[in-house]
Amino acid sequence: MIVKTVESLVRQIEAKDLSTAAHTWRVVLYTRAMAEEAGLEAERIERLTHAAALHDVGKIDIPDRILQKPGPLDKDEFEVIKRHTQLGYARLIRLQERDELVLDLVRHHHERWDGRGYPDGLKGDEIPVAARYFAVIDSFDAMTSFRPYRADVGEEAARRAVEELRTGIGSRYCAESVEMFEALHGSGRLDWIREYYNDTCPVGFETQGVLVAATSKYGPTTPVAVVETRT
Ligand SMILES: [Fe+2]
Repeated sequence: MIVKTVESLVRQIEAKDLSTAAHTWRVVLYTRAMAEEAGLEAERIERLTHAAALHDVGKIDIPDRILQKPGPLDKDEFEVIKRHTQLGYARLIRLQERDELVLDLVRHHHERWDGRGYPDGLKGDEIPVAARYFAVIDSFDAMTSFRPYRADVGEEAARRAVEELRTGIGSRYCAESVEMFEALHGSGRLDWIREYYNDTCPVGFETQGVLVAATSKYGPTTPVAVVETRT
């Protein structure tokens, strides 16, 4: 998929829900940090970046009244939300996306290691590798990001989130994914990402083949471009 299409889809996700938008930026950056740590080649990192940016693309098709509901969701509403995995997959198929890595991550990022996830109830090794790792990233960000009802986003929240991830090994998550994330988190190299747009600031956006163009307040060494133009 060309980067312009990825950008356009991400803009549509942003238009639906600003908290989703900030979440998208952070999970993209975590994904790249994990992929770089794993020593993946540049081409694969680029594909994973697209996959992470598009992971919740199916939320475009979820009604606003459910997606933006301020209070807790009831059972039926949660069933509708869960459909974003299949809706995202279907949307990408319609757009002629052929990259299995992208399609797999969009469809399977809510599967659980014990087979109790959705949409397909895949279990253990049946879950595509990228989706297993992404599930850890997605959960960590959900547990450490700002919400109207929770401003606890600092070090202590992160420590508790990592503990929660460890508790979920074998049920929600695969062990290697959690261990790798924990090691990287422990090195402190993810801290700036956790704080990235993790407040009430508007979400920035740049084009020219660059999806994320803001630099970390911690210095110039952080990655600037996260999606290179694909020819
Ligand atoms: Fe999702």
